[in-house]
Amino acid sequence: METVRIALMGAGTVGSALAELLPGHRARFAALGLEVELARVLVRDPSKSRPGIPAGLLTDNPEGFLDDVDVLVEVAGGTTLAGDLVLQALEMGLPVVTANKALLAERWDELRPHAEEGNLYYEASVMAGTPILGALQSLWGNQTLEMHGIVNGTCSYLIRRMEEGASYDEAFQEAKSLGYLEADPNLDVGGIDSAHKICVLGRLTVDPGLSWEKVMHRTRGIQHLTPELLQKARAEGYAIKLVASLFPEQGEWVAAVRPVRLPESHPLVTLGSGRNALVYKGDPVGPLVFAGAGAGGGVTASAVLGDLYRALLGLPGHQPVPSAAPVPAQAAEPFEEV
Ligand SMILES: NC(=O)c1ccc[n+]([C@@H]2O[C@H](COP(=O)([O-])OP(=O)(O)OC[C@H]3O[C@@H](n4cnc5c(N)ncnc54)[C@H](OP(=O)(O)O)[C@@H]3O)[C@@H](O)[C@H]2O)c1
Repeated sequence: METVRIALMGAGTVGSALAELLPGHRARFAALGLEVELARVLVRDPSKSRPGIPAGLLTDNPEGFLDDVDVLVEVAGGTTLAGDLVLQALEMGLPVVTANKALLAERWDELRPHAEEGNLYYEASVMAGTPILGALQSLWGNQTLEMHGIVNGTCSYLIRRMEEGASYDEAFQEAKSLGYLEADPNLDVGGIDSAHKICVLGRLTVDPGLSWEKVMHRTRGIQHLTPELLQKARAEGYAIKLVASLFPEQGEWVAAVRPVRLPESHPLVTLGSGRNALVYKGDPVGPLVFAGAGAGGGVTASAVLGDLYRALLGLPGHQPVPSAAPVPAQAAEPFEEV
């Protein structure tokens, strides 16, 4: 039996759920000749008890965190320490599994060579347990035409509450008390989280060098929406949604995030309420629709664990599309920006 030692960075919502899932997979790993164990767990506060994680494994010291381990699982978030440790692990030749879309979007220049080598696994970073990254890689045989997604559940919740009559501030406070908002709420309401995600998807689909700065330049959030605006749209048979899109514009691929008016029959409206949804259009495959839970500890940890299986089996991680895809001449579905 070969022992595989995991360095786990982060034991919050996702990391704790992963620690709870791992014991149930012991027999399946054993069938592969592997004994998978947590070597150490990096957190901010090691004095806090974490169910399923022996206290002796917890540390707040990044020094030596990667000593004698076989794989790094990064589910802490942030772009600084998490980024430095991820890069350190990759430079040591370790496979890295991460759910961190901010890191992927913003430090891509450093990460890209390792992703191209297949050492970086990040299915959980977009749409959590809904396996959109693997699906998009399987679509490389198509001419991508456009792609549109509702990929931030918190904004969907705020919009739904405003449609029901809550003011923006009331809906915001509710989401905060329910723990739906990121520590920096601007990541959600400013559209930045959605921008991180469309940036990751765009590099897997049409342009391995898609620029984060350009995506941010085309990103708007939902702070200006009001119950009146949302209810008026509904009365006219439309729903306003925060949509992250990838589409051709004047001979270039553009990634953008902004609230748009969609007919109530649009699949993003019918499938994207209460979950994440994404419509992909390609030639010859035609339109495809993906929908599922886009957040949650267990849901996200299941994708992290799936990546861990792939890494331990020696299967490659999420490589970006090998070269920039041609930009289609035909115009994308026109959306009315709000
Ligand atoms: N939650 C979801 O549904 C979801 C879905 C998809 C992707 N993700 C991604 O998964 C990652 C983790 O999300 P989460 O919801 O699990 O976050 P979380 O609940 O806030 O947990 C973060 C964990 O990382 C630790 N941590 C954070 N900064 C650290 C630092 N500088 N040094 C050491 N430890 C640090 C925290 O330690 P303490 O516990 O001591 O504070 C905590 O254990 C993020 O990148 C997020 O974007 C989350």
